[in-house]
Amino acid sequence: MSRNLAFLIASMALATAVFPRILGAQEANYDESKVPLYTLPDPLVGSDGIMVVDTDTWRQKRRPEILRMFEEHMYGKAPGKPSLMTFMTPSVNKNALDGLAIRKEVVVYFTGREQDPNMTILLYLPNKGPKPVPLFVGLNFQGNHAIHPDPGITITKSWVSAGSDHRAPPESRGKAASRWPVERILDRGYGLATIYYGDIDPDFDDAFRNGVHPLFYKPGQTRPAPDEWGSIAAWAWGLSRAMDYFETDSDIDTKHVAVMGHSRLGKTSLWAGATDERFAIVISNDSGCGGAALSRRAFGETVQRINTVFPHWFCDNFKKYNAKESDLPIDQHMLIALMAPRPVYVASAEEDRWADPKGEFLSALHAGPVYRLLGKEPLPVSEMPPVSQPAMGAIGYHIRTGKHDVTNYDWDRYMDFADRHFGRTAK
Ligand code: GCU
Repeated sequence: MSRNLAFLIASMALATAVFPRILGAQEANYDESKVPLYTLPDPLVGSDGIMVVDTDTWRQKRRPEILRMFEEHMYGKAPGKPSLMTFMTPSVNKNALDGLAIRKEVVVYFTGREQDPNMTILLYLPNKGPKPVPLFVGLNFQGNHAIHPDPGITITKSWVSAGSDHRAPPESRGKAASRWPVERILDRGYGLATIYYGDIDPDFDDAFRNGVHPLFYKPGQTRPAPDEWGSIAAWAWGLSRAMDYFETDSDIDTKHVAVMGHSRLGKTSLWAGATDERFAIVISNDSGCGGAALSRRAFGETVQRINTVFPHWFCDNFKKYNAKESDLPIDQHMLIALMAPRPVYVASAEEDRWADPKGEFLSALHAGPVYRLLGKEPLPVSEMPPVSQPAMGAIGYHIRTGKHDVTNYDWDRYMDFADRHFGRTAK
């Protein structure tokens, strides 16, 4: 064999060994028998090795410690509430959806300056029944106007991924309506608030030049530090700013606000619930890797793959754990445990193997000891329930038939869960 050929073969072998790792292009594992052996960190054992046996130690020591680890190694630290933020309600219609609802659009100016990035909250509040109303809030993927065909919703002017000019086309009105059963939600006495996630930070890797990040750079800073917020933490921060607005709106019962999100926005609702305890219920719909699924299982999407394809979602420190999940001082059951004692719901879909339904279930299950310590009912099952058989304690879980999506089945369970925990009579 010529030296050249030997060199070529050696480099090809090296390329196939190395590049899939670099590119995150290795085959996803869907074989239970190939899930690596792993040991989960114990949410109730502090970094000092001491077991947490009382509520005060959990609240004052261990919970803040876990929250800090998630900030530092995974989602990144976000700024707090901006002191100059203002709200403007440009449109209120008391007779929206044939009289069913009040529709409001509220613009949140994060810096108080209209020329800076800002977000628009779309609100539907039921006309029937008493005020203030409990509320579901969630970010949406395509613009507020896509959640319902209602012609009164302003079409977003923010960057959208579709189309050559990245402007939302009028035909996108109502395009995501199947994921937002507005009338069904209103009929059960809940309000709905939603925000286009791209208002807060457009979802592509631009080295954090657009979106809200630059508003908070220190002098001379050009991108977030390795332990500072990526896009998921920015979207979650936006949800907290929506909560700041709700606190000023007397139509909204701010003690009963449930935050819900799907997929990358489910990762976001979990992080919002962890960082902001004003959210009374936290719901993850098919959030998968970096959301409810245990990282150490490396089933379906992995840490390496998510950090490679979406390098802007997490803080830069998270990249240290590419293909090294076991080095993480945390895993996602501890994220679920950060919601305690508040009710938290994790939902999976049978065909959504990329998101690892079993890993999502196991996170909900292994958050149980923290709920038990705080006197709350963990998941009432110890094995993954069959499809369409929801399990509800203060931790809830279901797996439904079908694919990666949000369906009426999911919403109906979230409303059952909220009815139960908000002390409302189920319909
Ligand atoms: C991709 C990504 C997932 C994410 C999903 C979504 O599939 O790999 O992590 O949850 O997009 O947000 O739709």
